[in-house]
Amino acid sequence: MSSGTLQVASLKNPAILSLIGNTPLVECTRFDSGQCRLFIKLENQNPTGSIKDRMALAMVEAAERSGDLKPGGTLIEATAGNTGLGLALVAAAKGYRLILVIPDKMSQEKILHIRALGATTVITRSDVTKGHPEYYQDLAASIAAETPGGFYVNQFGNPTNPLAHEQTTGPEIWDQMDHDIDAVVVGVGSGGTLTGLSNYFARVAPKCEIVLADPQGSILSGFVNEHRMGQPGSWMVEGIGEDFIPSIADLSRVRKSYSIGDEESFLTARDLLRKEGVFAGSSTGTLFARYQDGSIVSVGPHDSLLTAFNRMRISDVSQVPVLDHGQLVGILDESDVLTRIQDGHGSFRDEVQTAMTDRIVTLPPSSSFNELREILDSGRVAIVVDQGQFVGLVTRIDLLNYLRRKVA
Ligand SMILES: Cc1ncc(COP(=O)(O)O)c(C=O)c1O
Repeated sequence: MSSGTLQVASLKNPAILSLIGNTPLVECTRFDSGQCRLFIKLENQNPTGSIKDRMALAMVEAAERSGDLKPGGTLIEATAGNTGLGLALVAAAKGYRLILVIPDKMSQEKILHIRALGATTVITRSDVTKGHPEYYQDLAASIAAETPGGFYVNQFGNPTNPLAHEQTTGPEIWDQMDHDIDAVVVGVGSGGTLTGLSNYFARVAPKCEIVLADPQGSILSGFVNEHRMGQPGSWMVEGIGEDFIPSIADLSRVRKSYSIGDEESFLTARDLLRKEGVFAGSSTGTLFARYQDGSIVSVGPHDSLLTAFNRMRISDVSQVPVLDHGQLVGILDESDVLTRIQDGHGSFRDEVQTAMTDRIVTLPPSSSFNELREILDSGRVAIVVDQGQFVGLVTRIDLLNYLRRKVA
């Protein structure tokens, strides 16, 4: 046993393991979430900082019960991140040896944290795919086969992984939301969280939509939205996105997937910290970025001009509505930002309300085609508002696209 472990198996489990799960759920109030109320489950409050502590504990305890893992045994796992940390904590707490096979893109601080918990790390290539002997999962399986008393945890195929979420994460969310929930946004690494939550919500709230947020480059979005297996690319976001469909990942109840680029994920995670004080990782950025799904990109009056500029740049739009709790209070376009910055009196730190135009002409959704044409012909953007709530912007290109579709 490594000298770094916390206790030996014969001693009582350290209380830290009882802190896994039962994480808080908070409402995000500083983001414009349109008609929805948006909540986040703070899985970073688990002892090693991620949701994976839940399944790490559950999979080890299931193997203990089944006899697959014996006292003094060795756990072997392939992990690109947080499962390794969760297993390292559980293995140290329960006195097992742990060998982790880690692709070389994993962040250094996590590797150091894992080693400090006493686990052995085997770093392997991240540029090879399934079937290659150096692919992290294939390598872990072969190390497990050669290790006496070895138990290959295999998060990608272990049914206890989704079960942990079906039995803990799902019921916690349901209770914390007072049994009132319309949609859950999830990422997929092994698929344990998604499968567990979709099994649970299919029972208690069958109308609850399961939405996948996926890094650009992962094959999962194409599979969900277009039923095709595309070529995998690469991405920097850790923990989610896949180049294959894990056997435990049941995507059958996922209606829609959003593909989010690295830049947007990282910027959103930073935004979340600045606005809500939530220090979350890049995968949370991917999940959270969905609120601006490209159909309505907006800013708040107290957002900085830099935030507005970044949002326009990422979404490739030249103007954004300024919304205050769903109410339209102005419109900001590139020239407003430019004028403010260029005249020497302003900076990118200034609030959007200092540069926006608040003299706006709006249209109800029932407006006629001619009313729309009149606004567009005068060089303005048509702003559609329904009972005080912003619905959308219509530009000349939108109109052209609409007409083209009608002709085709
Ligand atoms: C931070 C984080 N979020 C989400 C996931 C994906 O969860 P799952 O493996 O249950 O699909 C992972 C997996 O490593 C993760 O590290």
